[in-house]
Amino acid sequence: MKIAVLTGAGVSAESGIKTFRDSDGLWEGHDVMEVASPEGFERNPEVVLDFYNQRRRQLLTVQPNAAHRALAALEKMHEVTIITQNVDDLHERAGSTNVIHLHGELLKVRSTFDEDLILDWKEDLNLGDFCENNHQLRPHIVWFGEMVPMIEVAADVVARADAVIIVGTSMQVYPAAGLVQYAKPDAHIYFVDPKPSISESKRITVFAEKASIGVPKVVELLK
Ligand code: APR
Repeated sequence: MKIAVLTGAGVSAESGIKTFRDSDGLWEGHDVMEVASPEGFERNPEVVLDFYNQRRRQLLTVQPNAAHRALAALEKMHEVTIITQNVDDLHERAGSTNVIHLHGELLKVRSTFDEDLILDWKEDLNLGDFCENNHQLRPHIVWFGEMVPMIEVAADVVARADAVIIVGTSMQVYPAAGLVQYAKPDAHIYFVDPKPSISESKRITVFAEKASIGVPKVVELLK
């Protein structure tokens, strides 16, 4: 079976990475547009670089959880594509080999001049860190208001899937939130979230629980 998996911040919550919209979420301490928009970077690059430096440092201290591992194990039985809004590398570290990052990757940076000049980057990124052509480097993250280059590829994956698993996303940020509309009418949808934002139906099975509990259950069903 072809399985499309749409994940959001909730799949990494039990690894210790804050979600965005839960109380005391990542945006609680910050004005989103100040730390995750091109205007914010233009206005105050140090604030933005520091925000991502904190998140990059934390990412290097956390581990994948049972949900990431169950999704990686699913690859042994089916053709699985992970389409994640997350910028962490926990799906990859758990063993998933087919991961589409809609909103970029925290462990990569790119030239502010040539967006195709992308580098792996695990340490702090500061003003004065330039690409080989002497342009400031920025986080390889899709900020609010920027294009989501992989959205068409992701939509095509969902349109061809026999089953869709949605884990840990509030389905509030487009275009990612609109991907489920591309699912085939006969593709079953499995939704895992302690506070589900969609309801159960003939074609939707909801697991109103944490990812580390719900995702292994879905994987068990799909074995
Ligand atoms: N297991 C599963 N789901 C969880 C867990 C958990 N342990 N804890 C929280 N959740 C759920 C919440 O109930 C919520 O529905 O995860 C979801 C997190 O929603 P958001 O914080 O909005 O994260 P996400 O949907 O990934 O945000 C999408 O918005 O801020 C931008 O670019 C950013 O990629 C992000 C995008």
